[in-house]
Amino acid sequence: MVNYLSSVQTSMTEQFDKLEVFKLDTIWTIGHSLVFYGIPCHTRMTIVKLENGDLFVHSPIKIDENLKTEIDKLGIVKYIIAPNFLHHIFISDFSKLYPDAEIFISPVLKEKLEKHQIKKYILLDDELKLNWCDEIKPILIKGNTMLGEFVFFHKKSKTLIVTDLIEYLTEDVKGMKDMNIMGKIFSWSFDLYGKPKPSPEFQWYTNDKIALMDCLENIIKLDFDSIIMSHGKLNDGDPKKLISMAYKMKSE
Ligand SMILES: [Fe+2]
Repeated sequence: MVNYLSSVQTSMTEQFDKLEVFKLDTIWTIGHSLVFYGIPCHTRMTIVKLENGDLFVHSPIKIDENLKTEIDKLGIVKYIIAPNFLHHIFISDFSKLYPDAEIFISPVLKEKLEKHQIKKYILLDDELKLNWCDEIKPILIKGNTMLGEFVFFHKKSKTLIVTDLIEYLTEDVKGMKDMNIMGKIFSWSFDLYGKPKPSPEFQWYTNDKIALMDCLENIIKLDFDSIIMSHGKLNDGDPKKLISMAYKMKSE
């Protein structure tokens, strides 16, 4: 199953959104629609500008010269982040355009990236003591056998950046209105449509619910009022409530 999910196919339906401001002068996002093993999917890259002007790029999407030009107007790409087992696909292309940027990966990606000829990287860790960690705290989500997902708390903007921890697929999300039959079956199987939910990978591969819920309880205590997900709607409701709803936490 892991090998199956680690593959990606793109098709003629591939499309890019425009780079959008999420928090003025601090955070930008851009979406990329592609086909993931026959299922249309919309994923999101997030760019955070650090206090010194350096850029932190979370979960890169496919990059071309146009997007590079847009990004270069924002600052210098210093850090490229592959936050979990599945969000590494465009790291290689991205790092070729930014050879001086440091690559940070979830430790579960180590073997995979070596196969992609990426040999220079730093493993993410909750305890990393690096300059960017003073501004953006990495937090490992425990209890999942596959993803090894790190979420990131950007203190200044009070924003939590997650990848697959939670999805919020509504008809406003690109591609949802004209989803193909495979996508509809997939969404229906995991009850993904119209409400915040754990991603299929968190539904399938969580083997230690207590450890996962402990992480979520600690995350909820952080001082954030916005959430960016790699898949789903932005700016819709109280982010802590969305997490509580998705995981049926007691506070909900
Ligand atoms: Fe994902």
